[in-house]
Amino acid sequence: MAQKRILLGVTGGIAAYKSAELVRLLKKAGHSVQVVMTGGAEAFVMPLTFQALSGEPVRTSLLDPEAEAGMGHIELAKWAELVLVAPASANFMARLANGMADDLLTTVCCATEAPIVLAPAMNQAMWANARTRRNLRLLEEDGQISLWGPDAGDQACGDTGPGRMLEARAIADRVDAPARQVLAGQVVVVTAGPTREAIDPVRYISNHSSGKMGYALAAAARDAGARVILISGPVSLPAPAGVEVRSATSARDMLSATENAVEDGCDIFVATAAVADYRVESEAGQKMKKTREELSLTLVRNPDILATIAGRPRPPFTVGFAAETNDVEKYALDKLERKNLDMIVANDVSRPDTGFNSDRNTVTVFWPGGSEALATDTKTALAARLIDLIAARQHHDDTATPRKKTNSRIKR
Ligand code: PMT
Repeated sequence: MAQKRILLGVTGGIAAYKSAELVRLLKKAGHSVQVVMTGGAEAFVMPLTFQALSGEPVRTSLLDPEAEAGMGHIELAKWAELVLVAPASANFMARLANGMADDLLTTVCCATEAPIVLAPAMNQAMWANARTRRNLRLLEEDGQISLWGPDAGDQACGDTGPGRMLEARAIADRVDAPARQVLAGQVVVVTAGPTREAIDPVRYISNHSSGKMGYALAAAARDAGARVILISGPVSLPAPAGVEVRSATSARDMLSATENAVEDGCDIFVATAAVADYRVESEAGQKMKKTREELSLTLVRNPDILATIAGRPRPPFTVGFAAETNDVEKYALDKLERKNLDMIVANDVSRPDTGFNSDRNTVTVFWPGGSEALATDTKTALAARLIDLIAARQHHDDTATPRKKTNSRIKR
């Protein structure tokens, strides 16, 4: 494990308390750590805490002649082999995205040639806010910067959703084992969320899928180096930075968007979407009136997107999900075989605390001849593990038999 010189930037947010533990873990792993705090961070944690843990003076000001006489801001920027900003607040990301250098931390970020990692932490509405999304896109386009997290779950303010800083242990582990680019150069297509099947112009049939599992997988595939196309049903999640999102409403829309994406070249297809199995045979052109005591709707089968893609002459490595309330393994194995899949991820959706619309999930992964149960975890953490498993199985299939399935034609 390479020991690095890490400049840890701490910005203003309640998650700053986790950064003290992060310094301890980084030091324990043998890294040299220098801490730079913004004014906002000082409101949450005393610089002395970081000084004691890092064994180095903590820098807080750009215009401190005494500090500049020691290691000036440019030397600090050159010293760092990694700039890690944890927590990275919305305000800090906005200033960074706009090239501001109005305090020590933004100045070091402008001056350094080292990779910069941001571990965002903010309220879920701030994370979803259009200005924050725009700043993320700018940061992404400019390069040099990677995003670790955020995680989703309960927030200090009482809200629930994406915006929690990753745990200190998860960040420290990633510093020591940077995300392996296991899908570098590959194209991954992911379906996510529910579909809506119209009854009339104002009513539809749908389900409780939030899209969280699929969005987490798309982000994990991106982190693993893939080009990712996310075919999304109607959800209220922000697009993951660096992922191309194509919207679809009905199952038939989703099928055609998926076929188009796969047609253009796709190495791995992951179907997390909860696609409606049936649609109303004929959608009413106008809002239906409640003139009758009883109403019967004739439902007809929707096309199966997953089976369609897996049944192509040269299919990508195809991964299905199975949402079951009972006999999870039996039904999952049946789908694996019947739909001719390379892998299926089974989740027991009978539990209210995992599966549909939850931030956590519990899954067992099956492939021909094997399986692995993954302990209950956040969808973000599970997605990273699933991407590793997918890459390993894809590699195994490629080396075990001459590849029947290579479909990528995208030139990058
Ligand atoms: O979105 P979240 O709130 O995060 O919840 C995640 C999830 C529970 C929706 C997800 O983890 C999950 O299990 N997705 C699959 C849900 C589902 O529809 O399962 P199924 O057993 O009905 O379908 C099996 C597979 O066939 C799935 O990969 C599905 O995408 C696919 N399918 C199903 C029907 C159809 N017409 N076309 C399909 O492609």
